[in-house]
Parts: sequence; structure tokens; C-alpha cells
Amino acid sequence: MKVTILGAAGGIGQALSLLLKTRLPKGSQLSLFDVSPITPGIAVDLSHIPTAVEITGFTEDNIALAIKDAEIVLVSAGFARKPGMDRSDLLHVNAGIIKNLISQIAINSSHAMIGIITNPINTIVPIAAQVLKKIGVYNRKKLFGITTLDIIRTNTFLASLTGQQPESFNIPVIGGHSGSTILPLLSQTENNIQLTEKDIYNLTKCIQNAGTTVLESKSGGGSATLSMAYAATSFCLSLVRALKGESNIIECAYVEGPGEYAKFFSQPLVLGRHGITKYCSVQNLSKFEKHALINMLDQLKHDIQLGEDLAR
Ligand SMILES: NC(=O)c1ccc[n+]([C@@H]2O[C@H](COP(=O)([O-])OP(=O)(O)OC[C@H]3O[C@@H](n4cnc5c(N)ncnc54)[C@H](O)[C@@H]3O)[C@@H](O)[C@H]2O)c1
Repeated sequence: MKVTILGAAGGIGQALSLLLKTRLPKGSQLSLFDVSPITPGIAVDLSHIPTAVEITGFTEDNIALAIKDAEIVLVSAGFARKPGMDRSDLLHVNAGIIKNLISQIAINSSHAMIGIITNPINTIVPIAAQVLKKIGVYNRKKLFGITTLDIIRTNTFLASLTGQQPESFNIPVIGGHSGSTILPLLSQTENNIQLTEKDIYNLTKCIQNAGTTVLESKSGGGSATLSMAYAATSFCLSLVRALKGESNIIECAYVEGPGEYAKFFSQPLVLGRHGITKYCSVQNLSKFEKHALINMLDQLKHDIQLGEDLAR
């Protein structure tokens, strides 16, 4: 199993490389690429960790080698937010980076599962889909915007509020990956907890603003990197298990789905050897969640349309 990280020298990329070097199954290959010249050195550094995961680092003109025959490609290349910016401010510069990198994936490993971390996810994933379509290799069951950070934040914050263990929660988060388009389904906990309307409102806002909270806490020195690397590792390991034929692998991700609410939408998905095998429908929403879902759709559809227009 070969996993490639594009953007491997960045804040997310380096932590993700470390986590995957220690957690991928024995015999895996981990391939790192970044325009930063330190990338081969990052691979040398990580190669001293005694795990049976072969690691190689590439930069400059060696992107084809980095991607060649990868089964999973994770993309964290691009610029992160600074205080005062929202995710859409990153769009134009990151769109250019993504178009180029997705073309490289299409040419060098067209069958790969692609997990996109680069923001703004709501718009970047539709751009990636258009690029793959133009080259004639788009498979919507294999292109994912990674929204796992919203889920781990929800589980952590809910545990902190209720005094239960974070591992005991697995709350779906639907919609998109910015501001009000992030909708944690707090009503769907199986943990027999009673949340007041005020709890639900405050917790939802806290989850929606968590990225900004990290940004401000780091005094402008970066956005969420370490928790994001943990989240992307968790998502990647689910893809690995699905590729190996394990059943019942369920993850939320932002994908082109059945289009019940919007063309691209984050929802629980069943994963298999060939990508998504089932789009789980979103049911039994509370009144608060139904209202929030309807209210987010204009923004989400606008973000998607922007991506499709930019990719033309
Ligand atoms: N999906 C999420 O939940 C989530 C969470 C946090 C951050 N992000 C996003 O992830 C992205 C990366 O964040 P970061 O903190 O690691 O940023 P960073 O600036 O630390 O790292 C980005 C890396 O991308 C590299 N890069 C730039 N252009 C490239 C190209 N053409 N090819 C290969 N590499 C290239 C840079 O050299 C750098 O090493 C940002 O867009 C950020 O907003 C997403």
C-alpha cells in the first residue's frame, strides 16, 4: 500500500507524515512531496523511526515519482489562514495549487483515493472534481474533502461538557467545512445525555468557530495543524482498512453524493475497496438541526458554484 502526502513539509504535512510513519500497516510505503527543499530531509529524519514503513521524500521536478501508483493521496499543500481571514480568502492561491496537483494525480495515479485537506474545502473539492473530469478520470466515489477535524472536535467538546469519555462519542457532522455550513448532529448521540437548547446552540457555535479559536490562540502563527494531522491520519487509516477489504468502515467526508441537499455535501459514508459503497442518508434531525441545515444551503451551493466556475 502506497500513501503519498502532497504538502508534506507544512505544519499539517510534517505531523501527518510522523503519524503515518508510526501507524500505517507494516510493509506500507509513505511518499512525501512538497515544493520545500527540506522534504527529502524530512523523510530521512522520519526513516530513523523503527517501523516497517518505507519512507521517501521528493521535491521540485520529482512529483511524478512521488505520486506514481499511490493508492491513497492526501493533499495538504497550500496556504493556511491568518487572523482576520476566513477560509474563502485562501481560495485563489490554493485553487491554483490544487489544479496543478490534482492534474499530477490524474496523470500518475488515476485510480488513487484522494483526500483533500487544503482549504476552503467547500470550494476546493468541486475544483478538484472538475479537473479530474476534464482529464477523464473522475470517480466521485474516490474524491473526499477531509472533514474529520469537525467530528473529533465535536466528540471532544461534547465529552468535556458531559463528563463522559471522548472515545464514547461518534457524532456525525454534515454539510460543509466552514462557519455555518458545519452542522454537528448533536441529537444523534447514543450516550443517553440530555442537552438543553442553550447547550446545543453554544456547542454548535463552538464547533463552527473552533478553527478560528486555534488560529487566534496561535497569535497568527498558523492554523490547526496537529489536531488536523491526527484527524487526517484517522481518515487515512479508515481508507487503508477499506482498501484491504474490511467491512463496515464508516466515515463522514465532503463528497459529490446523491445531491439531496447540495451537489457536494458531507455525510456518513460506507467505504470499500473501490471507494464509497453507500451514502448514508441523514435522518431524524431535530428541529434545530433541520433549521440550521436549510439555512446553510445557500452558502454551501454558492461555495460549490464558485469552485465549478473557477475550474472552467
Ligand atoms: N481540512 C481541514 O480541516 C483543515 C484544517 C486545518 C488547515 N487546513 C488547510 O490545510 C492547508 C495546509 O495547512 P498548513 O497549516 O499545513 O500550512 P503550511 O503553510 O504550514 O503548509 C503548506 C505546505 O504546502 C506546501 N506547498 C505550497 N504549494 C505547494 C505545491 N504546489 N506543491 C506542493 N506543496 C506545496 C508549502 O511548501 C508548505 O510546506 C491550508 O490550506 C489550511 O487552511 C485544513
